Amino acid sequence: MCGIVGYVGPRAATPIILEGLKRLEYRGYDSAGLAVIEQNGAIAVRRDAGKLTNLMARVQEAPVEGRIGVGHTRWATHGPPTPYNAHPHRDRTGHFVVVQNGIVENFLPLRNQLIAEGFTFGSDTDTEVIVQLISREFDRCRDLETAVRRALSLLQGPSAVVVLSSHEPDKLVVARLGNAGAVVLGYGEGEMFVASDIPAILEHTRRMAFLENREMAVVRADGVAYMDLDGQPIEPKPIHDIPWDPIAAVKGPYRHFMQKEIFDQPQAITDTIRGRLDFVTGEVRLDELNLSPQLARSLHKVTIVACGTSYYAGLVGKYLIENLARIPVEVDYGSEYRYRNPILDDRTLVLAITQSGETVDTLAALDEARRHHAPTAAIVNVVGSQAARVADGVIYMQAGPEIGVASTKAYTTSLVDLLLLAMYLGQQRGRLDGDASLRLASEIAMLPDLAGRVLEQDTHYQALAQRFANYHNFLYLGRGIHYPTAREGALKLKEISYIHAEGYPAGEMKHGPIALIDENMPTVAVALRDGVYEKMISQIEQVKARKGLVLALVNPGDDGVAAKADALIEVPKASVWVSPVLAVIPLQLFAYHIAVWRGCDVDQPRNLAKSVTVE
Ligand code: AGP
Repeated sequence: MCGIVGYVGPRAATPIILEGLKRLEYRGYDSAGLAVIEQNGAIAVRRDAGKLTNLMARVQEAPVEGRIGVGHTRWATHGPPTPYNAHPHRDRTGHFVVVQNGIVENFLPLRNQLIAEGFTFGSDTDTEVIVQLISREFDRCRDLETAVRRALSLLQGPSAVVVLSSHEPDKLVVARLGNAGAVVLGYGEGEMFVASDIPAILEHTRRMAFLENREMAVVRADGVAYMDLDGQPIEPKPIHDIPWDPIAAVKGPYRHFMQKEIFDQPQAITDTIRGRLDFVTGEVRLDELNLSPQLARSLHKVTIVACGTSYYAGLVGKYLIENLARIPVEVDYGSEYRYRNPILDDRTLVLAITQSGETVDTLAALDEARRHHAPTAAIVNVVGSQAARVADGVIYMQAGPEIGVASTKAYTTSLVDLLLLAMYLGQQRGRLDGDASLRLASEIAMLPDLAGRVLEQDTHYQALAQRFANYHNFLYLGRGIHYPTAREGALKLKEISYIHAEGYPAGEMKHGPIALIDENMPTVAVALRDGVYEKMISQIEQVKARKGLVLALVNPGDDGVAAKADALIEVPKASVWVSPVLAVIPLQLFAYHIAVWRGCDVDQPRNLAKSVTVE
């Protein structure tokens, strides 16, 4: 997942580009570069492998000044992370540069064809094929937009590109081919911005538009011309007013974005609820969901599709919707759903859960649903993202930008959205009466405060983390609605501390995993006082009988589990419907502190990217 920042306007482009790339650091990268058209009309390029500070040093050594340019942070797909493989890539004449997000799946035959025509290549990347094709087509048509369109028509695979040319130095040509991640156009006063993600340009403008598949934009300081890849003009894209606070896209007093976003959760949950729940009647309003009472009553199945943490939120959603609305729910990984020829009809709601709104496997699942004319919806955080646009309706997480690769506030706000959705469906289908709705509404109203109380125990979680930081394997156990809590807790630990951890339904212990238990494999057990509490006690006893260490999540005043566990985390008592929001927070901080203790790169864990836009 690469980062792109472009600028055209009256100001110096270089600092805007570098600051924007800095805001995209969380996307993960292994090299970076920028290109600017200087006052003399030539394109200057600076690139380097490694962290952004290396590129900044190159720019410091040899400054580049101009008022139009583009920058890129690369996540290597073809060719090692070296300075010559870093973007921007330039054609042999030096009159064209390109940055790209995505993959040219047919780059080898194209490269061979170009070599046969006498072109030479300076990198191992697929991207360089694009700029050489543009250069060749420009020689034939002498028009930049046409040359870009012709070059893109030869590509297979998803690509988002930004093209700069000294032949036409007043414009950036931007295009999106398939699901290669967002292409954001920022509208300033007499200046324009291009980015692969909102935070990169949020400090300059909140007015943003989003390119869709097979669309192109010619971006000048005074505005944008939109067209399709056949060259036909299209309606200007709607300009969204992004409700995010630019401050949210910076760490502030926190050491990591992940830490900030964990502590953001009381505010994020408050924002998620805002305007959707009448606390007097308990009625839920989800206007953007675009799901009529008639359709809500006619549904005979809900299929939730998601990946990673969002998938675990979906597992909680199954409990909520099946219990509160009495509709059967299946939950599937986007990567599985898209290839299993699912049974779909117009009374099956396909619900995508995706923080970024750009996860290619989840988007493919939505496409599959639309092919079968099934109603679709998306629980999504990023306004204007692909999922938000292609789904029939949306429930925004309203969590603010989530920068840390490990998802935290997106998970808890997804759970709140799922609870609101379950209530809405239950109310529309006559399954949830006024009293029950009011009880739930009062539970939800207490969530931000209860989440704040959980966060107050952070020093305790830090002490526990230091006690458990040197183990190499963990088992996380939960039952019922907390089985997904166990899965998500395990994922947090493994993805930022690189410790192996498995989340398991506690009842499955005796069917295999118990063979793993010994003094070297701690077990984290979610044992809150709910309908399966007694069962959890026996599971904990089974672990203890095999010399396993147990860290148990309990409600205050618990004496049953407390006598058996080796360490405790207290979670405020709350109804089963909201307790998954509270129980996950200590597990987020437990994982965070272990990762920090182990010296891991918390915000940019190895091998991971914030949004997986390639298969
Ligand atoms: C979560 O901590 C991971 N970073 C990852 O599993 C993530 O949840 C997954 O890639 C889905 O992303 P999405 O919600 O943006 O679709």
